[in-house]
Amino acid sequence: MTRINANYLNLPGGYLFSEVARRVATFSAANPEARIIRLGIGDVAGPLSPVVIQALQKAVAEQGEAAHFRGYGPEQGYDFLRNTIAAAEYAELPVSPDEIFISDGAKCDLGNFQELFAADCRIALTDPVYPVYADANVMAGRAGRADEDGRFKGLIYLPCTAENNFVPELPSVPAQERPDIIYLCFPNNPTGTVLTRSQLQVWVDYARENDALILFDAAYEAFIREPGIPRSIYEIPGARDVAVEFRSYSKTAGFTGLRCGFAVVPKTVTGTGPDGKRVPLHALWNRRQTTKFNGCSYIVQRAAEATHSPEGKAETMAATDAYLANARAIRDAFESMGLTVAGGHNSPYVWLRLPGDMDSWQFFDLLLAQAHIVGTPGAGFGPGGKHYFRFTGFGNQADTAEAIDRLRGLSL
Ligand code: MLT
Repeated sequence: MTRINANYLNLPGGYLFSEVARRVATFSAANPEARIIRLGIGDVAGPLSPVVIQALQKAVAEQGEAAHFRGYGPEQGYDFLRNTIAAAEYAELPVSPDEIFISDGAKCDLGNFQELFAADCRIALTDPVYPVYADANVMAGRAGRADEDGRFKGLIYLPCTAENNFVPELPSVPAQERPDIIYLCFPNNPTGTVLTRSQLQVWVDYARENDALILFDAAYEAFIREPGIPRSIYEIPGARDVAVEFRSYSKTAGFTGLRCGFAVVPKTVTGTGPDGKRVPLHALWNRRQTTKFNGCSYIVQRAAEATHSPEGKAETMAATDAYLANARAIRDAFESMGLTVAGGHNSPYVWLRLPGDMDSWQFFDLLLAQAHIVGTPGAGFGPGGKHYFRFTGFGNQADTAEAIDRLRGLSL
């Protein structure tokens, strides 16, 4: 008898973006003439920048030459990329190249990292939240079942609402129920909000005082323009002992199709073994990756390296500037319509509070049917998103402008 992992039966029916894609495909099939504008999943409009294309072409040519061909690479990533990241992104910070693990994207790392922890670790996450953190812990059996609002009994929710400016407050649970692991994502997906240095310090201090670990998703750091907003959690004193950071080239450099990201696992971050001794997570993650992962391809790692060159940085900045301008335009449009909206500054995401009691999936269907626009229903990011809706600035400029015209035509 092949018994399944019954925790999978506790998951919501479909992964959020697969469900969105399913509904869009059904609508398109029934309305082939509709010109749909996609502001749903955070997929970039592209194309890849010239520096990235040159690096790819050079690496492809090398793969065709006996003298330069590369087969299996190091599971942790090539030194050329780990050294480049340490120098370019963490020059002033206490991160060394061998603490950087290259992967095929932050989503996989964020989903996989929880494997290092005991099945009964308590998990805290913001509500709303990027669904991968929640779903991965549901699969691992840490969340139990959801109630009818989609709230998992075993997870500790940190509400982020218009009332608290989408800044999570420390968990208000008895000492013995405090979380062991806290997922934070800033700039936030989906609300688009950022934390100041002092707001992030509160979490680092909490983790230190409570022997908790922060899994910090910094996939959107490249969109920060305001001085003083931390791009890395390691800018915060004390974070090196309690935080693992995840980054991605997807949104930064348009690698959603190429696939590359990395995790920073400081050697000073530890968990507790069954005998009470501290165990470095670096060693565990290294063991996990060498067993289950064969590395990101050489070609892609050369492309990632190119994004850190002066030209690469300039091209990346130009692309992220354009997405930020789109997000700001969407935000401004909603504000001028008198609606409550967050994000759109330092972030490609715009988080709209739907008027009245409107449900987010209902709004999704209405928006698709009446304006032929795809967005992401807030409910897909957790129970707290039920009356919210996410738009992205990742479209091209003309489509975004047209979408805004169509949105203004809706009576909201
Ligand atoms: C999103 O739209 O939230 C992201 O594109 C999803 C992801 O990065 O996996």
